[in-house]
Amino acid sequence: MDRLVIRGGNQLKGSVQIHGAKNAALPQIAAALLAAEPLELGNVPDLLDVTTMLGLMQELGVTAERETGGSLLLDPRGARNAQAPYEIVRRMRASILVLGPLVARFGSARVSLPGGCAIGARPVDLHLKALTALGARVEVDAGYITAETNGRRLRGGRIILTSPSVGATETAMMAAALAQGETEIVNAARDPEVCDLALCLTAMGAAIEGAGTHRIQIEGVDSLHRARHDLIADRIEAGTYAIAAAITGGQLELIDAHLEHLAAVGAVLEHAGAQIWPTDRGLMVSRTGPLRAVDVVTEPYPGFPTDLQAQFMALMAVAPGASVIRETIFESRFMHVPELGRLGANIVLQGTTALVRGAAKLHGAEVMATDLRASVGLVLAGLVAEGETVVHRIYHLDRGYEALDRKLVQCGADIRRVAQ
Ligand code: UD1
Repeated sequence: MDRLVIRGGNQLKGSVQIHGAKNAALPQIAAALLAAEPLELGNVPDLLDVTTMLGLMQELGVTAERETGGSLLLDPRGARNAQAPYEIVRRMRASILVLGPLVARFGSARVSLPGGCAIGARPVDLHLKALTALGARVEVDAGYITAETNGRRLRGGRIILTSPSVGATETAMMAAALAQGETEIVNAARDPEVCDLALCLTAMGAAIEGAGTHRIQIEGVDSLHRARHDLIADRIEAGTYAIAAAITGGQLELIDAHLEHLAAVGAVLEHAGAQIWPTDRGLMVSRTGPLRAVDVVTEPYPGFPTDLQAQFMALMAVAPGASVIRETIFESRFMHVPELGRLGANIVLQGTTALVRGAAKLHGAEVMATDLRASVGLVLAGLVAEGETVVHRIYHLDRGYEALDRKLVQCGADIRRVAQ
């Protein structure tokens, strides 16, 4: 297993190309199952999670081909209603996203209950309720979800999400695209990735209104067709590099990043002492003055994203003063706390709240990556820790960050990947 060896202390300067959004790619790859004709996706990042999703699609008879220029051509002409096996689904929770398309297109589906990042219970009940509201009979047995329509088409319905789950909104939208009649999703997630999926489905011939608001309406169509769609930039990758600039007191231009997708993050980083402004190519993040401690609560979009909580905690670990960070999306997403402690961070956990007292200095140590975002939080801390930080189990990083070490080196970081 590879590890990263980081020598802290370098300011980051330069530009970073932000890749297409992982969380836009995964549902849109699953959406290829909805049509009998190919779907071409542009700006698809080269990530382990994408490879895992393509492996699952192959299991379901959808072939994928990388074209010159980075586009991905998904061909569902051989698609069949096979089972989505535990062996693949356990590696990535987002595998659940094939359930809605399979049942909408084939009238039945069998998908293993997902695994993925170990950051809390993460149930899938809202996905299942959404499909039930569209007329599917859903059962969970022996670790598998089965959904059936008894040979009929799904029918439009009213789906009320008790919390605005991103994945459940996407499952509902994809299934409803092929249902008979109109569907309304109430309390839908408003994330940019939900809007991007709606754009992709619309290009395929779906009729969707209201994506980006709490209420999405879908008029089902008989079939979807060939389409091409370019993915939006990854706001979590962009936010991570923004924090990298802030923590090292450097300046980075994030090419293709959109400030409007990072409004809450930008505001928090400015309170913390950074400056952020749009440029012709994306946005610039810089910090010249001292860091300040700021409190943060993670919230559904457009609030501060849970996927940047670990990275922000690394920043607060070196900000003078005390910061309270409350996690409201995933109840046990604090596995980075003891690891940051090994670097000298002073963090006290109480339930879903962390009290971070900024340390004058962090010190390099060996740490263990536990999930995707937690591990990149450790890398950010390593960038300012004195001496050498070794991050083990970095396959978690490869799930969501394309060429992280190379991009950081280009901006002046002293970091190398060592094969075990
Ligand atoms: C997506 C993102 C993930 C991000 C998360 C929150 C993808 C591939 N992943 O995950 O990076 O951290 O949004 O922004 O897009 N919940 C239920 N029942 C359900 C579904 C969710 O109770 O059926 C709960 C979850 O346990 C969690 C909350 O709802 O507490 C939010 O989860 P959700 O928005 O569904 O996250 P994901 O779609 O899994």
